[in-house]
Amino acid sequence: MNVLFASSEVWMLIKTGGLGDVAYSLPHALQKEGAEVRLVLPAYQDLLKKLDSFSILGWLTITLNDKTRQVRVLETHHPQFSMPLWLIDCPDLFDRAGNPYTDQAGYDWADNAERFSLFSKAVALLGVDTLKLGWKPDVVHSNDWQTGLVSAFLEEEADRPRRIFTVHNMAYGGYFSHQTYTELQLPPQWWSSEGVEFYGKLSLLKAGLIYADAITTVSPTYAKEICTPAFGYGMEGILSSRHYKLSGILNGIDTTVWNPEQDTLIPHHFTSKQLKGKQKNKQALLTSYGIKSTKNQLAVPLLGMVSRLVEQKGVDMVVEAIPQILAESEANFVLIGTGHPYFETRLRQLNQQYPDRVFITIGYDESQAHLLEAACDLFLMPSRFEPCGLNQMYSLRYGTLPIVHRTGGLADTVVDAQINTENKLEKNSVNQANGFVFNTPDTAHLLSTIQRALTVFKNKSVWQQLQHNAMNQDFSWDKSAQRYLNRYR
Ligand code: ADP
Ligand code: GLC
Repeated sequence: MNVLFASSEVWMLIKTGGLGDVAYSLPHALQKEGAEVRLVLPAYQDLLKKLDSFSILGWLTITLNDKTRQVRVLETHHPQFSMPLWLIDCPDLFDRAGNPYTDQAGYDWADNAERFSLFSKAVALLGVDTLKLGWKPDVVHSNDWQTGLVSAFLEEEADRPRRIFTVHNMAYGGYFSHQTYTELQLPPQWWSSEGVEFYGKLSLLKAGLIYADAITTVSPTYAKEICTPAFGYGMEGILSSRHYKLSGILNGIDTTVWNPEQDTLIPHHFTSKQLKGKQKNKQALLTSYGIKSTKNQLAVPLLGMVSRLVEQKGVDMVVEAIPQILAESEANFVLIGTGHPYFETRLRQLNQQYPDRVFITIGYDESQAHLLEAACDLFLMPSRFEPCGLNQMYSLRYGTLPIVHRTGGLADTVVDAQINTENKLEKNSVNQANGFVFNTPDTAHLLSTIQRALTVFKNKSVWQQLQHNAMNQDFSWDKSAQRYLNRYR
């Protein structure tokens, strides 16, 4: 099974969120199951900087916007990747500093439609072996709106491979104007309600939904949710009527990168049986914020969050809940994030108001994120919606019990701890519960769930049982990679 896997980001080289993690770990898992994978990405400046050498596979001729470009296709073998990486090298679209999607000020690159149309066209051409490399994929697997047009471009090819499109987040529809569509000179036959047109606009996400042979999304619950108005962003009808080709496959995590027994980014390793290292990491984390931790500070609960600071993640609820929890308990907070300037300011304010109890890192900091997972007692993830979510799985693996809203992948991975009046686990929770789940995404419910978790924290044996359940769950990719292969077949 030859698989051409197309993504707009990949961990270690260029990453803004969970898509980057999945684009690294899923192709490796597929490869482990016997598939032969090529991973194709845009040749961003920051990505090229991280490579020592590459070879040129050939040139593709691509016309968009009245411009005909000769686009170089590069191949590189990176020591951390067990498959060749193919890079679409179009300097005027990708050779610029910074984020794959936004400029330095945080605004979308004005030519994103052109950038990702060109990338998608290149992927489609590689999908039919235009370069005569002698390697033809059986399946082209594209991901999110940035690669939505891959399936559409392949529609135009008679001898095409199977097309699978994975939705990582319906909230990003890849919307552009009709004018952009005409300027790009995309095939006129695509402009219909059964094509890429969505309420008078172009939606690259919709292109993926319409033209792919199979649609997957990243958890079984999210696959159901997106067929409803609350989660479908107006595309619930399109998805419901295509339920025959829609399925939810839970993401796995890379258990070599996220493993408390061997994580190279944390100072102290630990296991579910020997948790002493976790306590030492707590000390290390507090020290990193300039706190000389006392015995008491190490004993009181530490709640953490690592997140893109956007509404999806319920950051507003966390910010509102913190002052009350600080007032009524001894708990402390560590928050790492970057995103909307409003939320960044709110976090800074909390830190200024409570400098010895709320610690923050504004920015993208991978080592600090690993340390936080290893050090905290509880992880906050009250997302309003969450297609899958990786951080709750990282937390579980590190014995950091997640507090989550019951939605999407959070509902599929976190099992609520049911406690009786003696602060002991109910029978049905003993072997299964691994965190704290609430049903209504608002501050009041988040607050009461944090309060419940803090009560349970006082019962050490119950807490250890929950940590044991969490840390011994299997979140490896094996089963999910098999499911993808079945889908491909
Ligand atoms: P999403 O993709 O919606 O942001 P996920 O939970 O699937 O959510 O994945 C988020 C990924 O990005 C995780 O690997 C998480 O550790 C990482 N991450 C998010 N924000 C930061 C940050 N500020 N610093 C370091 N890592 C971050
Ligand atoms: C998206 C989703 C997140 C998911 C990730 C990887 O960014 O928001 O829930 O885990 O993609 O699939």
